[in-house]
Formats: sequence, C-alpha cells, structure tokens
Amino acid sequence: MSKNNSNVSTEPYKGVRDFYPEDMAIQNHIFSVWKKTVEKFGFTEYNASILEPAELYKAKTSEEIVNEQTYTFTDRGDREVTLRPEMTPTVARMVAGKRRELGFPLRWYSIPNVFRYERPQRGRLREHWQLNVDMFGLGTTEADVELIAVAYEIMKNFGAKNSDFIIKVSSRKLMNAVFGTWYELDEAQSKALQRHMDKKAKMPEEVFYMEAEKIVGKPFEFLNLSHTSSQYEEAMAFPAIRQAKEELDLVISSLQARGVTNVEYDENIIRGFDYYTGTVFEVFDTDPANNRSLFGGGRYDNLMSLFGGESLPAFGFGMGDVTIRDFLDTHGLLPAQTSTTQIMICIMDVECKAYAEEVANELRTTGGADGKGTNVALNYSYKNISDQTKAARKLSIPQVVIIGEDEVKSKTYTIKDLAKTE
Ligand code: HAM
Repeated sequence: MSKNNSNVSTEPYKGVRDFYPEDMAIQNHIFSVWKKTVEKFGFTEYNASILEPAELYKAKTSEEIVNEQTYTFTDRGDREVTLRPEMTPTVARMVAGKRRELGFPLRWYSIPNVFRYERPQRGRLREHWQLNVDMFGLGTTEADVELIAVAYEIMKNFGAKNSDFIIKVSSRKLMNAVFGTWYELDEAQSKALQRHMDKKAKMPEEVFYMEAEKIVGKPFEFLNLSHTSSQYEEAMAFPAIRQAKEELDLVISSLQARGVTNVEYDENIIRGFDYYTGTVFEVFDTDPANNRSLFGGGRYDNLMSLFGGESLPAFGFGMGDVTIRDFLDTHGLLPAQTSTTQIMICIMDVECKAYAEEVANELRTTGGADGKGTNVALNYSYKNISDQTKAARKLSIPQVVIIGEDEVKSKTYTIKDLAKTE
C-alpha cells in the first residue's frame, strides 16, 4: 500500500531509503565497525554540509557525474548549488583552506551521505552513506599500503575471510605510461581510452574492442604486464612503464608482507574520477551471487592545486553502506540482534506498576552481563501477557520480565529469553 487517505504516498522519494529501526540497527553496526577500525589507525573525524557550490565539481571530477548525476539547483540568491555527489572535493577544499594550520601527514575520515542521480538498482541508489578515509601529505607508497591495509582491516572486522573478497590494484601512472609509450597516444586519446576502459564491464567485448580501435586508430590489444607474459621484458624497456610497474609491485608485496594476501594486479581497474594520479584499487566480493565491486579509491596528488596552492599528495578511498550491506547479507555477516533494547517489562495490571518501575530502575543501573545496566522498555499497555510478548518479538527485543501479583508479593522476578520460549 503506497497511498493513504489524503493520497500522499507513504513511499520514500525514488532511490532513497527510509531507515526503520531494523535497518537503522544494521546501519549503526556498519558505522560502528567503520569508526572503530579507522580510529585504531589514527584517523580523526571531520564533516561538512551536504551543500556545495556547483563549480567545485566542474573543474576536476568525472564528466559522467557532473553532467548526468548531480542534483544541482539555483538558490534564491542565483547561486548554483549541488548536493555533494562525493566527499573528495569537499575534503580537498577543507584541507586547502587551512593548509598552514594543519599538521601533516593528515589522517582524516568522515561518513557523509552523498547524492547521485543514478538509475536505482542493486548496489546503486540516489543517496548513500560513504565512509571516506584519506591521508594527505605523504607521497610515498607507505600511504598507498597503509590505506589499502585499513580497507582490508575493515573487511576483517566485519567478519569477512580473505577468501570472501579480493583487492584489485592498478595504477593510473602505469596506465598513462603505457598509453603514452606503448600505444603512443596523445593526451586526448589517452583520456578517451581511459574513460572507455572504465565502462568496459558495461558493454559486450566486441563493442569494447571496436570502440577502442576507433580511439587509438589501430587494432587494440591489452598489454599484459604480468611477469610471465611474453610482452613483459619489451614493455619494461620503457623507463616510465618500468618505474610505475615497480612502484605498483612494491605496493602489492608490502601488502602481502602485512598479511594482506588477497591482493592482485588487474589492469582493468581504472576508477571513474579524473583526479586519480597513481595507485588505484577496488575491492570485489568473490561470491558469485554478489560478484561486484564493493568500494575503492586511490592516489590523487593534484586535486589540491584546484584551489590555487601547491599540489599536495593524497590517498584515500570511499566505502558505501549499500554495497557493504549486500556483502554482509550475502555472507551471513549481518548482526543477529537488531534492537538496542534488551528487555521488555510486561506489566499485568496497573497495581503492579510501581514494582515494575522499581525492577526497570534496578535493571537499568545494575543489570546486564557486566552489571553496569541494561536497556529496558516498560510496556504500559496492560494488555494480556501474550499480546505484550508478541509486541516484544515484533520489536526484536530478546528478553521479557513479566510482573504480576506473585512477583509484587514476593519481590522477585525472572528474565525470560524469548528465543527459548517459542
Ligand atoms: P566512488 O567509487 O564513486 O568513489 O564511490 C565509492 C563507493 O561508494 C563505491 O565503491 C560504492 O561503494 C559507493 N557508491 C558510489 N555510488 C553509489 C551509489 N549510487 N549507490 C550506492 N553506493 C554507491 C568516490 O566517491 C571517491 N570520492 C572515493 C575516494 C575517497 N577516493 C579518494 N578518497
């Protein structure tokens, strides 16, 4: 039913979600794992408004996002305003604005909601929350490795095993070197090929190769840079390719040395935004039922120069709540308890109210496994006990205490697990 009496729909706006308590509980669980993990790695939280001047996105992000996916409007003062489609330009703006006062390397994180006018489908909505983890001021591969290790650790803290996901890495620097020297493309051709490669998964193979041939002006063939490939030695003779490949190999071997073994080079990883300059990565679910990209990020060393200052090295990633929730669901990793309320006190009739309130107080201050108090809801409906218990189940409250005449007289009570009293 989507209509009520006044004919206003009860459905949310297309592509956004309502968070009923069960969904909110899952959302809170996801945020809590995110926050705990990144804070362990020394990242501190920042935030900003969802409104940004539209020009922030026009200069250096992705044509697809700016032209087709932003929510942009003109305000009453004739300013063009955009609901942020991502957080990176905002954080770059903030860092650039206080550059002299900040201590580098800077480790910052945020969990903003971001808006993209996309066709809603599994894993893609018009509003999602996105953990952004970014490091500014470190141009060496240590930053690449540290940030990818943070991404790995988050997955582990969600309960994922190494075999549940794979981290695919590539490098814009390597790609540009290959485009410029191996394929001998000019800048415009390189950019066109990069955009085309980013869309590879969305089209049939033949179409991809036909279009690629048009862009490069000759039959297109992927350069295979794995160490065993016959093209490897020949490609390594180009200094720009060699240097970028060695850098990427160092990122991969450093990750492996830290126990991140589910990482591999994949030249298909491009990432849509224009601002990436070096290592890029994307994490994929390995389950065939949810075989998709979960999240990703990379190095972007030039975005800061947008604001007039010198460039500042940066590395970060964005991890969306929608794809992660699907991942947790697919792998049976969603939290079992969805209510923050542990106990409902069912009161038989109004004469029992005073003692029920006494019990609630006691449980709230000294109850729970650690004796530090637990979360208790009093049910003042005075309905029959089976109705009250039913309500507790519907509310996903795992335990009840029934307070009737006997309990009032004896000044005792029993906590019942609803799961055990089916
Ligand atoms: P992105 O790949 O566009 O990167 O988005 C990051 C993640 O946000 C995606 O991998 C996915 O988990 C989620 N996401 C993106 N669009 C949607 C959508 N329409 N619905 C649901 N989830 C979505 C960025 O946004 C970069 N700014 C990330 C970054 C931070 N790079 C460096 N620092």
